Amino acid sequence: MKQEQIILVQETWGKIIPELDPASNDFMDKLLEIKPDLIKLFRTDTRELGLLMMAMINRAITALDDFEEFRPEIQKLGKRHIHYGVTDDDFDKVAEALLWTLKKYLGAAYTDEVADAWVVAYTQIAQVMKESSAQSQFA
Ligand code: HEM
Repeated sequence: MKQEQIILVQETWGKIIPELDPASNDFMDKLLEIKPDLIKLFRTDTRELGLLMMAMINRAITALDDFEEFRPEIQKLGKRHIHYGVTDDDFDKVAEALLWTLKKYLGAAYTDEVADAWVVAYTQIAQVMKESSAQSQFA
C-alpha cells in the first residue's frame, strides 16, 4: 500500500472516530440490509458486534504503517472467522457496507482517492483473514 494511501485512510478514519457509535450501528444495519441472512451467523448482539468490528478496524488502520507486525493478529482473527461461518462473499458485503458508511460520515471528504485507498486497505486486511482461514481448514 502506498504511503499516501495509508495517510488518506488514517486521516479519514480520524474523522469517523468521534462518531464511531452511530457509524457502527449504521454499518451493521447496512450490512444486514445488503444480506439479511447474515443475522443467522451473529450470536452476539448486533450493536455490540458492530463496535467490536469497528474497534478491530481501528487497530488495523492504526497498524497500517507496520502491517507486518500486525499480520499475526489478523491471521488469528481470520481463523476465528471460519468458525463463525463467514464466506468470501460475506467479505465483499462487509466491504460494501463499510464503504457506504464511510461515504455517509465523510460527506465531501469521501473523494475517489479516499475510496480507492480504503479499498486497498480493506482488501489487504481481508486477504490476510481469508488466507489464514483457508489454511486453517487443513491445519
Ligand atoms: C476486516 C474485516 C473484519 C474485521 C476487522 C472483523 C472483526 C471482528 C471482531 C473483532 C469480532 C469479535 C470476535 C473476535 O475477535 O473473534 C468479530 C466477530 C464476528 N465477525 Fe467479523 N470481522 C471482519 C469481517 C467479517 C465478515 C466479512 C463477516 C461476515 C459477515 C464477519 C462476521 C463476524 C461474525 C459472525 C462474528 C462472530 C459474531 C458472534 O459471535 O455473534 N466478520 N469480527
